[in-house]
Amino acid sequence: MVYLNGEFIDKADANISVMDRGFLFGDGVYEVIPVYNRQIFRLNPHLDRLQRSLDAVGIHNPYTDKQWQALIERLTQHNAFDNQSIYLQITRGIDSKRAHSAGALTPSVYIESNELTPRDQATLATGFSAITRADLRWQRCDIKATSLLANVMYSQEARSAGVEEVILHRDNRVTEGASSNVFIIKDGALLTHPTGPYILSGITRDLVLESVKACQINIEECGFSLEALLAADEVWISSSTREVMPITTIDGQVINQGQVGHCWQQVYEHYQQLKHA
Ligand code: PDD
Repeated sequence: MVYLNGEFIDKADANISVMDRGFLFGDGVYEVIPVYNRQIFRLNPHLDRLQRSLDAVGIHNPYTDKQWQALIERLTQHNAFDNQSIYLQITRGIDSKRAHSAGALTPSVYIESNELTPRDQATLATGFSAITRADLRWQRCDIKATSLLANVMYSQEARSAGVEEVILHRDNRVTEGASSNVFIIKDGALLTHPTGPYILSGITRDLVLESVKACQINIEECGFSLEALLAADEVWISSSTREVMPITTIDGQVINQGQVGHCWQQVYEHYQQLKHA
């Protein structure tokens, strides 16, 4: 069952007009929200970010937070899995002709929920690989827009290279992953790119910072260079579907002798506690 424009229907029956601006222009925004043990995890920060994305592109939010919660709860209750990943998107709506700009339209809303299977600790303990690429995206990466062509191109490269993620850098500073935030540990401190126009402010990023603080590791939200990435003691990526994952090989170069670091281990364990708190 999925939700489309006011109705709960079978996914096979969910259809959208070719004149929807999401289809024609990628003119929409989205959220991905995890559900653990049937509880929606950190719904409010996701709804706050959704509002910021909508405001940035000038699309009216069709629902109150209470209404969003009720819709999402109904979908999650209908789904058979304890752990789920909610995908919701809002496009500017359906127009009568294809033109770059549009007048006032009724936004289209689509929500689905799928099983969420974060990788288990044993798999994570082996570490993952990444490659680096120049970040050629625009300067509004803070908007969670459905128009993700650059991110898709990077992710296709990752898939072809058989790696977990593409780590992006702009002006020799690491920004984020194609679909994740990036952190390093160097000399006992955590470094990550500051929030702003060059990264998506991840909800998991905030949770990782919360866990890092709880583990009494110093935080420096000042960014770091590509050289610092390759010379890091630990490298992690985070997202709502991947939680916090250790990266132990970048561009074929081994990080921390290929070992998952002890800071990651501590933070991962704290994150698991947050999930079930
Ligand atoms: N993506 N940066 C980018 C470019 C992302 O696409 C994502 C997540 C993140 C992490 O954000 P969060 O912690 O709020 O999930 C950072 C989602 C999962 C996706 O597109 O499916």
